[in-house]
Amino acid sequence: LAPPRLAGRRLLISAGPTFEDLDPVRFVGNRSSGKMGFALAAAARAMGADVTLVAGQVALATPPGVRRIDVRRAAEMQAAVLAALPGQDAYIGAAAVADYAPAETARQKIKKKEERLALELVRTPDILAAVAAHPQRPRLVVGFAAETADLETYARGKLAAKGLDLIAANDVSRADRGFEADDNALTVFWRDGRHEIAHAPKAQVARALLSLVADRLETGR
Ligand code: C5P
Repeated sequence: LAPPRLAGRRLLISAGPTFEDLDPVRFVGNRSSGKMGFALAAAARAMGADVTLVAGQVALATPPGVRRIDVRRAAEMQAAVLAALPGQDAYIGAAAVADYAPAETARQKIKKKEERLALELVRTPDILAAVAAHPQRPRLVVGFAAETADLETYARGKLAAKGLDLIAANDVSRADRGFEADDNALTVFWRDGRHEIAHAPKAQVARALLSLVADRLETGR
């Protein structure tokens, strides 16, 4: 009997949305359910890996045997990911990190007054790019690209710009895959290749993506 394909490997996975607070009751967030990242964590554990899951606020149970760290804001997610980085073989950034956060978080609830209210937002740190450029960079850094058009162009742009080994792209304009869906379909790109993962339950899609990860960890490519 062959050992499980990720036995002895350490995988760090981020999942779910980040919430950037405007005041004690309101936030800027996004529609990520965390299902893809949690499916990856469960599948990686089942394939024998030691798994650390950094999770934004989601309504999902921790997969058995997975070490989970809960965070809320992008800045907290980055701190948790960087703290867990040493010794990891792969990082998979499956979180939907908010691109912008309020410039200030009000201590008290913001009261309604004028007809229009302008919010000032500032860019959040790019966690994935920071991991890929880190002195303790894992051997493999994998990102996701949720797109609504020109999948390959945008995905390949992110692969290069963020310094990734693999990028898993999905078309979130379709209701039967992506954000809140139980199924997904991915096109995985790397510098000189691509691989289609057919539309299937996220657990199956996760196994297919992790098998590409295992291939690369085995060959050292
Ligand atoms: O640039 P874009 O947000 O589309 O890239 C998506 C990928 O980058 C995902 O893997 C996501 O987890 C990661 N990301 C990140 N930090 C950000 C924004 C995106 O790690 N601030």
